Amino acid sequence: MRWEKHRKQFEEYLHGLYFSDDPMLSGLVDAMRYAMLSGGKRVRPTLCMECAWVFGADPALVLPSAAAIELIHTYSLIHDDLPAMDDDDFRRGRPTVHKKFGEAVAILAGDAFFGEALTLITVHQKGTPEQVLEVVRELASSTGVEGMVGGQVMDMDLTGFGSGVDPATLHMIHKYKTGALIKSSARIGAILAGVGEAEQKAISEYASELGLCFQIVDDVLNATSTREALGKSVGSDAEQDKATFVGIFGLDGARREADAAVERALAALSRVDGDTSGLEKMALFVRHREK
Ligand code: IPE
Ligand code: IPE
Ligand code: MG
Ligand code: MG
Repeated sequence: MRWEKHRKQFEEYLHGLYFSDDPMLSGLVDAMRYAMLSGGKRVRPTLCMECAWVFGADPALVLPSAAAIELIHTYSLIHDDLPAMDDDDFRRGRPTVHKKFGEAVAILAGDAFFGEALTLITVHQKGTPEQVLEVVRELASSTGVEGMVGGQVMDMDLTGFGSGVDPATLHMIHKYKTGALIKSSARIGAILAGVGEAEQKAISEYASELGLCFQIVDDVLNATSTREALGKSVGSDAEQDKATFVGIFGLDGARREADAAVERALAALSRVDGDTSGLEKMALFVRHREK
């Protein structure tokens, strides 16, 4: 499957990333490599590569940007697990970064990922200066206040009050905390392939719905899966009364919402002129994933 090929290529690229061989920095670099080479699903970079392919570019072209996206995602997970946030001790099947390296290193490893992500794009990403600038703009806005970080703040602010949240607010949280980066992963692949506005609009709509579905399924798995199968803690959303689709709509209601988001994602794909079979498969994977 083409998607599997992207993932393999991406994994090799990530393994080859170099940060520093200064012995003074080896503790930081060890923590970063521990976090980033620990077997995530690589949904965002793979999506970025597939979108580049759909619009006629070589998926390898976007590897620096795809890696930048994954580093930012990895930073968000390290920080999300900190005691000040979700206070989780298990991630991707092993102890969280702060459990293994301490909180200070975990915070700094996350921070360093952001800087390294920008270096990857600005130093290594090929494309016109306009395209590269657009990639930076896309990533910056999707991870900032009206994006991933803003979504994390809303999530945190409503922890303990989750069952009282209205559906519109819930959609907003998921759209920001998870949807924004997934959407920009697709857009970045399309930007670097040089697509026009109409295609970009359809791809954005697809990825936006994919991102929403992704987080709804994350909510469902938190309520239904096991720590062993998922490689991270379960049951924590209900315990902390987080604002989740399961909390508001119930398990079946959340599953129906996830189905509806996939339907909308597939409908958006029908407006894309190109072979979108891989993107369709990805939507179904996101809906039916078990980890
Ligand atoms: C988990 O993301 C956190 C969310 C944004 C829901 P993933 O499920 O993509 O985590 P990894 O990268 O596969 O570990
Ligand atoms: C994580 O959301 C979102 C980001 C890290 C941006 P959650 O807290 O719901 O995800 P998990 O379940 O810990 O992976
Ligand atoms: Mg969280
Ligand atoms: Mg969490």
